Amino acid sequence: MRYGTLSQAALFAFALLLSPLLFAQATSSSSPSVTQTSSVAPTTSAPATPWWRHAVIYEIYPRSFQDTNGDGIGDLKGITQRLGYLQNLGVDAIWLTPIYPSPQVDFGYDISNYEAIDPMYGTMADFDRLIAGARQHHIRVLMDLVMNHTSDQHPWFIESRSSRNNPKRDWYIWRDGKGPGQPPNNWQSLFGHSAWTYDAKTQQWYYHKFYTQQPDLNWHNPDVQTAMFNVARFWLNRGVAGFRLDAITNLFEDPQLRDEKILPGKNAYGDPNEGLAMTTNLPQVHDVLRALRTVVNTYPGNRVLVGETYLPNIDELEKMYGAHDGQLQLPMDMQVGMINRLDANMFRLRIQQAENDLRGNMPLFVFDNHDIARSWDRYSDGVHDEAIAHIVATILLTTHSAALMYYGQEIGMVTSPPKTRAEVQDPIGKIGWPKQKGRDGERTPMQWTPGFDAGFSTAAHTWLPVAVDYKSVNVQVESAQPDSLYVWYRKLIALRRSNPALRDGSNIMLNTSDSNVLSYLRKNPWQGPSVVVAMNFTAQTRTVKFDLHSYGIRGSRAQTLMQNGGVATSVSLQAVNLPPFAVLIGQVE
Ligand code: NOJ
Repeated sequence: MRYGTLSQAALFAFALLLSPLLFAQATSSSSPSVTQTSSVAPTTSAPATPWWRHAVIYEIYPRSFQDTNGDGIGDLKGITQRLGYLQNLGVDAIWLTPIYPSPQVDFGYDISNYEAIDPMYGTMADFDRLIAGARQHHIRVLMDLVMNHTSDQHPWFIESRSSRNNPKRDWYIWRDGKGPGQPPNNWQSLFGHSAWTYDAKTQQWYYHKFYTQQPDLNWHNPDVQTAMFNVARFWLNRGVAGFRLDAITNLFEDPQLRDEKILPGKNAYGDPNEGLAMTTNLPQVHDVLRALRTVVNTYPGNRVLVGETYLPNIDELEKMYGAHDGQLQLPMDMQVGMINRLDANMFRLRIQQAENDLRGNMPLFVFDNHDIARSWDRYSDGVHDEAIAHIVATILLTTHSAALMYYGQEIGMVTSPPKTRAEVQDPIGKIGWPKQKGRDGERTPMQWTPGFDAGFSTAAHTWLPVAVDYKSVNVQVESAQPDSLYVWYRKLIALRRSNPALRDGSNIMLNTSDSNVLSYLRKNPWQGPSVVVAMNFTAQTRTVKFDLHSYGIRGSRAQTLMQNGGVATSVSLQAVNLPPFAVLIGQVE
C-alpha cells in the first residue's frame, strides 16, 4: 500500500461543485497539414475511421509537466522534450490546458490574449516546434479554447468596462443591480459567492460564472462569436488538431435573469446550494457548437472538438453530438469515471448507456483531470489501492470508447492537497478553506525520476511541491517493474490498438446481475476472436462463469491477453477464478 485515503469531502468538493448531478474558415493555404490517415494502424480489414474514434488523449497541465529553465514551472520545451515518452506510452493526442498570456488567477483559464503564448511557457516559436515535433512522434496537439469568459485584463473587457457606451460594452453581461449594493439576482459563481461584481465607474454589475477576474462573454452578441471563431482559425492554421472546449455548457444564461432555485443545505463556501437551470446547459449552446463545427470541418485531417461536458444524464450527453454528428465529436462522458466508488452495477449501467444510447457516437471516458481529486484517491480502499488503479485503467482502456487520461495517472500519482491555507495556490482553496482546499492536490509536478524534484525541475522551489511518494512512484522506477501500473497502462494502450475486438468490437455486458464482478464482451465485428474482460470489484475471491453461446460465440476457453492478481494464463469460461480485485482480459478460443 502506498498513500492512505484522503478525506472524501475534501477530495470531491470540486467535482461536486462542477457536477450538475446535484440538480436533479476558411481554409488557409498556410495551414500546416495534419496527417489525414488514422494514427492507428488497423490490423484487420477494419475500414479506416477518423483517428479520434479510438484515440487515447493525454491531458497535460503545462505548469506541472516538465520544467526546462529552472523556474519551477513547466514549459513548452519541456513538453517537446517528453514527446518520446508520450509516443512510447502510446497516446494519440495531447490536450494542453491554456498556455496563452494570462494573469494566472485561474492558472491560464483567465486569458488576456488568445493569439499568443504566455512567456512563462515559452514563445510562439517553441509552440511551432512542439507541433512539428509532435507530428514526428505521431501525436496530435489539442488546445484548450475558453469561450465562456476572458480575463478582466483582456483588452475586450478593458474596453467594455470603460463606459456604458463603449462598442464592446455588450460583449459582456452588464446589468443594473436590484437596488443599492444588491446584485441583479441570486446567481452564484461556481467558485463561491455572488456571480456578479459591481463596477463603480459605470455603476453596473458584470456576470462571471467563475472568478471575479473571469467576466463571462455575452454569446447573444454575434460579434463575440465572430471574434472567438477567428481565434479558433488562428490555431487551426498553426496546425492544432482541434480543441477541448472549456466550460462549454455555461455559454448562455437566462435572458430574463430569473433567480436560481434555492436547494437545501450550504456549499463549501457557506453559500446556500442552488440549482443551475438558469445558467447551465441552455439550448442555445447547441447553435454555437453547430456553427463552430462547420468552421472546424473546413480544415483537413479530421480536426476534433472535445467538450468539457458535466451533464446530468446520458440524454443530455447525446445531444452534444448533434444530429448527423454536427456538433462535438467527443463530449466528455463524466458519468462513468466519476461514479467515485467501485460499484459494479453502476459501472455496468453507465457503460451500457454509453454503448446503446449515443446513436453510435463514440463516448469519451475520463476518470481524471486537473479539477478533481485523482482517481487513485477516489476509488482506493486503503488496502488494495494499486490493484484498484489497475481496474480503473482497464475500464478506461478496454471499453468501447475514446479515452482521456491525465498526466501522472499512468504511474498512480495521488492527490496531495495543501496542509495549510497559507500553502494554497488555487484561489478557491483560499475562498473555501478548510472545506474546499482547491485543486492544487491534483496538479503537483509530474514524477519522472526518484531524483531531485522528481526530475521535473532543477528549481529550489517548484510552483507546487512534489508529492512525497516520488521516490517510488515515478516513471523511471515503474518502467523497470514488470507489474507496475505504468507498464499496465502501456500494455493496455498497445493492446487496444492492436486487438481488433478491443478496437472496434461492440461492448456487451455479461452476467448482468453480478454485483461483485464487472465483465463484458468486446465482440469482434470481423472474423476473428472476441475478448472477455472481467474485473473483481471485491476483496474476496470470486468464481464466475460465462456463457457466450447466445452471442454467437462458440469458444469455451479464454487465452489470457493481460491479467493481474494471479489469474491463470488460460481459463475455462465455465469457472474463471478471480482473486481479490483481479483483472482478466482474455481472448475467447
Ligand atoms: C473548467 C476548467 O477545467 C477549470 O480548471 C477552470 O477553472 C474553469 N473551467 C473555468 O475556466
